[in-house]
Amino acid sequence: MRVLTIIPTYNEAESLPGTLQRLRAAVPESDVLVVDDNSPDGTGVWADAQASKDDQVFVMHRQVKDGLGGAYIAGFRWGLQHDYNVLVEMDADGSHQPEQLPRLLEAIDEADLVIGSRRVPGGKMVNWPWYRKLLSVGGSLYPQILLGLRLTDITAGFRAYRATTIEAMDLDAVQSKGYGFQVDMTFRTAQLGKRIVEVPITFTEREFGESKMSGNIISEALVNVTKWGLAARADKLRARLGR
Ligand code: GDD
Ligand code: MN
Repeated sequence: MRVLTIIPTYNEAESLPGTLQRLRAAVPESDVLVVDDNSPDGTGVWADAQASKDDQVFVMHRQVKDGLGGAYIAGFRWGLQHDYNVLVEMDADGSHQPEQLPRLLEAIDEADLVIGSRRVPGGKMVNWPWYRKLLSVGGSLYPQILLGLRLTDITAGFRAYRATTIEAMDLDAVQSKGYGFQVDMTFRTAQLGKRIVEVPITFTEREFGESKMSGNIISEALVNVTKWGLAARADKLRARLGR
C-alpha cells in the first residue's frame, strides 16, 4: 500500500515544521506532498529545503492562492500520476494529529473513504471557540439533512481516500474551495456508491497563524449544499415520475 499525505499550505511557516516532523515520525511509510500557494511567509521555501534532505517529501508550488479545494485537487492528480494507492488529506496547522493517522489507514482496508470525525464516540474538539463549534455542527447537520448522508462530520478535513475513489470522479467538476470542498467530495463519494467510514479523532485548534476560512467560504458551502440537495431531490422525483 503506497500512501501519500497531502498537506496544503498558505502561510504555515510556524506550524509546518512541527507537523511534518511528527508525521514523518508517526507514519514513516507515508510520502508527503506539500502544496504551497506561494506563501508570503516562506513556507514553500522551507518545504523545498526539507524536500532536498528527505526523499519522501515533495513540494508542489502554485503561483496564486486558490483555496484548499484547488490545492487538494492538484495534489490528488499528482498522487494518481505517481501511482499511490491511498491519498490522505491533513492540515498543516496542528489541528490534525499525525499520531492518529494510523487509525485512518487501518480503516481504509475496509473502506473507500475514511473520515476522521470529531463527533463519533471517542472524537474530540480541543480549544475550539463556541462559534466555530456552532458553525461546525450546523455546517455538518445541514448537508446531512439536505444530502441525506448518515455521517457525523461531513466538513472534516482529516481523511484518507483510496486512489480508486478519486479516480472514479470527474475532478474538473469539483469547483468548491473551502468547507464546501469537503462536503462536495463526500457527496460525490457517496453517489458513486463507495463505502464511507468515520473514525474518532481529536481536533485541536491551531497554535500559530490564522484560519483561512471566511464568510465567503461559508456562504459558498451553504449555497452549494442547497443546490446539490435540491438537484438530487429533483432527480429522485423525476425517476419516480418516470421522466
Ligand atoms: N495551498 C493552499 N491554498 N492551502 C490552503 C489554502 C489555500 O488557499 N487555504 C487554506 N490552506 C491550508 C492551510 O494552510 C491549512 O494547512 C489547511 O489548508 C486548513 O486551513 P485552515 O485555514 O487552518 O482551515 P480551518 O481550520 O478553518 O478548517 C479545517 O476544518 C474545517 C472544518 O472541519 C480544515 O480541516 C477544513 O478542511 C475543514 O473543512
Ligand atoms: Mn485550521
